[in-house]
Amino acid sequence: MAVAKAAAVILAAGKGTRMKSALPKVLHAIAGRPMIGHVLANLAPLGASPVVVVMAPGMDALAAAVAPHAIAIQDPQLGTGHAVLAARQALGAGAGDLLILYGDTPLISTATIQRLLDRRRAADHPAVVVLGMRPAGAAEYGRLVVDSEGRLEAIVEFREATAEQRRIGLCNSGVMAVDGARIWDLLGSVGNANSKGEYYLTDIVALARKQGLVCAALEAPVEELLGINSRGELAAAEASMQARLRSRAMADGATLIDPATVWFSHDTRLGRDVVVGPNVVFGPGVEIADDVEVRAFCHLEGASIHKGAIIGPFARLRPGSVIGAGARVGNFVETKNAKLAAGAKANHLSYLGDATVGEAANVGAGTITCNYDGFGKYETVIGAGAFIGSNSALCAPVTIGAGAFVAAGSVITKNVAPDALAVARAAQVEKPGWATMFRQVKNKMKKIGS
Ligand code: UD1
Ligand code: MG
Repeated sequence: MAVAKAAAVILAAGKGTRMKSALPKVLHAIAGRPMIGHVLANLAPLGASPVVVVMAPGMDALAAAVAPHAIAIQDPQLGTGHAVLAARQALGAGAGDLLILYGDTPLISTATIQRLLDRRRAADHPAVVVLGMRPAGAAEYGRLVVDSEGRLEAIVEFREATAEQRRIGLCNSGVMAVDGARIWDLLGSVGNANSKGEYYLTDIVALARKQGLVCAALEAPVEELLGINSRGELAAAEASMQARLRSRAMADGATLIDPATVWFSHDTRLGRDVVVGPNVVFGPGVEIADDVEVRAFCHLEGASIHKGAIIGPFARLRPGSVIGAGARVGNFVETKNAKLAAGAKANHLSYLGDATVGEAANVGAGTITCNYDGFGKYETVIGAGAFIGSNSALCAPVTIGAGAFVAAGSVITKNVAPDALAVARAAQVEKPGWATMFRQVKNKMKKIGS
């Protein structure tokens, strides 16, 4: 494939001032994954090498998030052009194509990056190809100035643009592919005589044109090129991503009863004929097999649900939940690090943490696994076919043998043998006629009082 010679730089050193956040902007999540993670994931299939992420000093969480990719430190942050220069050493000597992506433009698809590279390699050999978009409304993006032949002449920042230039519909996404043999020369000529006093990457277009080089604009869907600078734009990008994920889930054979109320993680995997009710939230790491029903108002993360299981309504599955084929997890049941084997049932009002529930076992309403004693976490094992009566507290570590019964309201602190009945509650005391006597005394008192 011709892409072998491309290297990539992802700019992420900006302060992200407009986010008003302690977190670096590109670590804010969309569909459960940091923005920068989306960029890296969508770039990956093209095999660009090296991939260098430019960041500011002290962004340790960001460095960890992008590992094992190379990083370059830009200090201080003097603009997007200055940021690309900061990556020069890490990019090495290769003179192939250089892809420049922005960490705050996370929705770009692999196909669009590929189209950008293809355009760079077209017969007219443009030195710079810039991805353009047409956002609705008066967006504050840079504008792409194109000549009568359709060639890109310059990029004018919104702040520097004249009223006439601001009327140009074609906006700069920031994403570009540049001839690796020319980029450093072009960037070396970029100055900072502008309203922000910054070295704008966007200036390389006019500089290349001055040298008689061809530059080109390539239009791509605006949904992929939204830049995120504020919480409002973050929410808009999330909405756009969710729309994409919902469409994909339905195209792959899931029924979403009210798609707009189902929230996916970037990595949610749904089988065929899965039915998802309204108001369901999928956190990261959820995998659902065929024929599963997730009823309304469930919250799931780090969970694996096997064929034909029924979850909810109002269930909460936390990381490490594995729900077996045909099993049921009903309303107000919370599971964490819990494995329910095929056909097991926990239908009402339970907490199952650090637990293993055997095949076809029945966990009664209100059962709690007491997995934490204030120091450590301990495991509860419920054997196959066991029956746990309502409102039982299973104090871990504890094992309920296969086929055993636990009487309702028991506080179980010792293992229960298979097929045994465990009753661990105060014995019932009955006093015949007590209520009659009580009422008589009460009536007498009333008479004396009147
Ligand atoms: C930039 C473009 C603008 C374009 C818009 C698209 C420039 C000068 N302007 O504006 O034409 O329409 O993106 O979203 O390029 N960064 C650094 N170091 C810096 C400054 C920025 O790494 O010194 C990084 C940021 O982390 C960010 C990206 O570069 O990921 C873009 O920076 P940002 O400040 O968001 O630029 P915009 O004002 O959005
Ligand atoms: Mg931006």
